[in-house]
Amino acid sequence: MVIPSMEKSNAAVCRLRRYAFPLVCFLWTSFSLALWVLNDGIHIKQFQPPRPKPVPQTYNSSIISAVDMGISDEEWERLQKSLDWPMPDQEITHLNQSTSPVHSTFSIVGLKESYKVGENISVIIRARDHNDKLKRYGGDFFKAKLFNSDLKASVYGEVVDHHNGTYSVAFRLAWEGQAHIHIRLEHSSEVVQILKKYRESSFPRSHYSGYFEGSGPNKTRISEVVECNLKWGADGSWRKGDCCCEHKDIRTGTVWQCVRPKKLSCDKLVHHSLGRFENPLNPFEQQLFTKKLTNVAIRGDQNIIHVLPNTTAIGTVEKCRTGTMTPVPSGFYLRDVWKSFVCNTRQFSSAQMGNCLKNKIVYLMGDSTTRQWFEYFERNMPGIKRLDLHTPRTGGPLMAVELKNNTIIHWKPHGVPLRFTKMLITDLHYISNDIDEIAGGHHVVIVFTFFAHLVFHPITFYVYEVAKIRQSVVALLSRAPETIIIIKSGNTAGLKNIFQSDWYVLQLDTVMREMFRDIEGIIFLDVWQMTSCHYLREDIHPGPIIVANEVNMLLSYICPT
Ligand SMILES: *[C@@H]1O[C@H](CO)[C@@H](O)[C@H](O)[C@H]1NC(C)=O
Ligand SMILES: *[C@@H]1O[C@H](CO)[C@@H](O)[C@H](O)[C@H]1NC(C)=O
Ligand SMILES: *[C@@H]1O[C@H](CO)[C@@H](O)[C@H](O)[C@H]1NC(C)=O
Ligand SMILES: *[C@@H]1O[C@H](CO)[C@@H](O)[C@H](O)[C@H]1NC(C)=O
Ligand SMILES: *[C@@H]1O[C@H](CO)[C@@H](O)[C@H](O)[C@H]1NC(C)=O
Ligand SMILES: *[C@@H]1O[C@H](CO)[C@@H](O)[C@H](O)[C@H]1NC(C)=O
Ligand SMILES: *[C@@H]1O[C@H](CO)[C@@H](O)[C@H](O)[C@H]1NC(C)=O
Repeated sequence: MVIPSMEKSNAAVCRLRRYAFPLVCFLWTSFSLALWVLNDGIHIKQFQPPRPKPVPQTYNSSIISAVDMGISDEEWERLQKSLDWPMPDQEITHLNQSTSPVHSTFSIVGLKESYKVGENISVIIRARDHNDKLKRYGGDFFKAKLFNSDLKASVYGEVVDHHNGTYSVAFRLAWEGQAHIHIRLEHSSEVVQILKKYRESSFPRSHYSGYFEGSGPNKTRISEVVECNLKWGADGSWRKGDCCCEHKDIRTGTVWQCVRPKKLSCDKLVHHSLGRFENPLNPFEQQLFTKKLTNVAIRGDQNIIHVLPNTTAIGTVEKCRTGTMTPVPSGFYLRDVWKSFVCNTRQFSSAQMGNCLKNKIVYLMGDSTTRQWFEYFERNMPGIKRLDLHTPRTGGPLMAVELKNNTIIHWKPHGVPLRFTKMLITDLHYISNDIDEIAGGHHVVIVFTFFAHLVFHPITFYVYEVAKIRQSVVALLSRAPETIIIIKSGNTAGLKNIFQSDWYVLQLDTVMREMFRDIEGIIFLDVWQMTSCHYLREDIHPGPIIVANEVNMLLSYICPT
């Protein structure tokens, strides 16, 4: 995935905003000056931020119904419940009302002199605002882990929100030796509220380009580049009036709209690429997102936790099999090797990898995070060779084969919306359509991931797309029940702006998991915990050591022992 820098110059932001919001542009500029002063050491409280402004509405997304999403009312109710996230109980008008990473703290409950492997340790987080006052409501997005740097060991902790400003985390002590606690405030609940507001408002935060190409009147090739975006819902155009060409995918019903080119007809759309980001934040909201307040470690008990061995070995000998439930923790790192609590995961040597995928056709679908898996196979599997499909190196689709053992590996990016660099639009297929075209069978492995490029669009659209994928998966499992189908979860990326945030990904993951909960015969591969607790800096493209662990887990499911 291509993620252009979010750091826009004031001039760029203003140019982009002037057309719609001249006043905001003015305020933005003055705010930026203030920010510069702030960085010189002046305290946050000295700001006199303007009042928040109403969300610019392009359309009313709350009129999307369960029927529009292709699911039942009951399911939509269930999904909304699982997505529910506490919000501030008052209008936020000053920065000092938001949660402060400086004043929020954590403490260990009933710290003992020593513990045994397999025991739990409880931690309480107390959120405070910038005036050091305890928060009264929940909704802060914390990330928590237990780690030991020397042992390259870590485990993820789930933060439970008590809706009153306190949170608790239970960590499983998974290795022998010392352990330390690390807790970060990723976003204050005030920021989560803003993330939620703009996701629902469907202000077009992400733009895309469409390249129309064809013959002009005198037989010369002409091309026109226009803006494109998703049309979602009956009244869901991001442009007013009769502006656009509509490219509707007949099977999924997804409508992709491009501003009508001046010289060429609507059927001449040839290439697609990412476009600019558009920042909807007003200056006050922008303040809440500043680096100082986002993804910051909070203070707390620095005690070393001593963990003694237990006579019974921790872990499991169960075969890796289908199922979508992921416990917390689902596993832990020790010496940089991920050990699952769910089933018997192992590390595959190159030869074992080749053996495991013998006579298999592997379809890796989705985004650049499954492309990382493709590249891992390409680097590590004996005898594998990438074929030249004359497609872009990062855009794909890609294909590699191993002739002696008859292994084929495909990688395909999913359909629009997608933030990739320029590529043929004919090479972008919806996951559900691709699954519909696979006969399936015991030799077929399908892996898909669907999260990183969906964070820019309403969650109702995501539900709609996942419902389509589910339909195709159910049909495939019915015609070929031995097909191995693996859903790879989203990974944490440490992204923390209005465009991309792990909070968005967490919500999408919740939808994916809930919607596949009752589908038997699929595997849900949770990489969220693996990326969240590792010592490497979080990245939308996890580092090689994490990818190696992810692929080993994948292979443990394809070739269980
Ligand atoms: C919060 O900050 C605003 C603006 O700086 C100030 O007027 C207000 O008194 C502060 N509130 C509290 C409770 O400190
Ligand atoms: C959006 O639609 C809902 C349901 O029809 C309505 O209650 C709400 O007031 C509308 N909001 C706006 C901003 O038009
Ligand atoms: C430690 O081992 C004993 C068996 O020797 C077992 O009963 C107990 O559950 C284990 N404790 C933990 C915390 O895993
Ligand atoms: C630790 O917590 C987990 C999950 O809450 C629980 O299943 C397990 O039994 C606990 N272990 C001990 C030793 O209390
Ligand atoms: C918050 O709620 C938790 C769980 O209900 C409770 O144990 C705790 O005492 C409450 N804390 C405060 C400050 O009210
Ligand atoms: C053909 O048409 C294009 C655009 O209409 C124009 O720019 C170009 O000069 C024309 N070429 C010739 C050879 O007439
Ligand atoms: C094919 O698989 C076998 C194991 O079944 C392995 O020994 C051999 O190296 C593989 N061939 C190639 C070319 O990788």
